[in-house]
Amino acid sequence: MVLRVSSHVIWYTALSMDGRIADGQDSLDWIEAIGPYEGSGTEFHAFLATIDAAVVGASTLRWLLRGGHGWPHGDLPTWLVSHDPGLVDRVGPTEAPFTRVEGNLEPVFEAIAAAGHRRVWLCGGGDVAGQALALDRIDEVVVTIAPVALGKGPSLFEGLALPHRTFQLAECRPLGGGAARLRWERARG
Ligand SMILES: NC(=O)c1ccc[n+]([C@@H]2O[C@H](COP(=O)([O-])OP(=O)(O)OC[C@H]3O[C@@H](n4cnc5c(N)ncnc54)[C@H](OP(=O)(O)O)[C@@H]3O)[C@@H](O)[C@H]2O)c1
Repeated sequence: MVLRVSSHVIWYTALSMDGRIADGQDSLDWIEAIGPYEGSGTEFHAFLATIDAAVVGASTLRWLLRGGHGWPHGDLPTWLVSHDPGLVDRVGPTEAPFTRVEGNLEPVFEAIAAAGHRRVWLCGGGDVAGQALALDRIDEVVVTIAPVALGKGPSLFEGLALPHRTFQLAECRPLGGGAARLRWERARG
């Protein structure tokens, strides 16, 4: 019997009321509408402490680079999904391996699992998340919903012909200031 070793992939992001992860100008300023809430200063770090690898899309990385943030998670083995080899040079040296991949993401998730990474943070964006969803590689979705509608911008899952995927609600709580936290786990039944 061949056992398929798999990672647990978590798409963790802030989201607008209309399901977008950035506005039409590629800005994340609207996230400020979430405001401080109990635990807001520590919970993302606590989440990161449970993660042992990351997957990031080219547009998300470019947004970080444009903002002067570089790649802030250089300690995590990271897979960059991009056609652009120059992006790796723009990131510079990292503590952990930083690997560019392109094309079908299925072998990428297999390689991540084969390398022994059990909890993988899908850092975005919606394009990469949509491909992961289509491959049924998303195991958990954690969103912090801001009380704002944006009208335009990339969706939580981008893609023209995404299959239906069912998730089970694992957490639902108000954060104060009109924001909410929702967490779903994939129901593969
Ligand atoms: N709200 C939040 O917390 C949050 C979280 C994450 C991201 N964001 C925002 O979301 C926006 C980016 O999301 P997005 O959905 O537009 O883009 P994305 O998923 O970050 O990146 C998409 C880009 O990645 C490359 N790519 C995707 N799939 C590929 C494949 N299979 N092979 C090779 N390259 C591939 C392509 O760029 P190239 O062809 O140029 O390589 C593609 O245009 C940014 O504004 C970011 O700041 C927000």
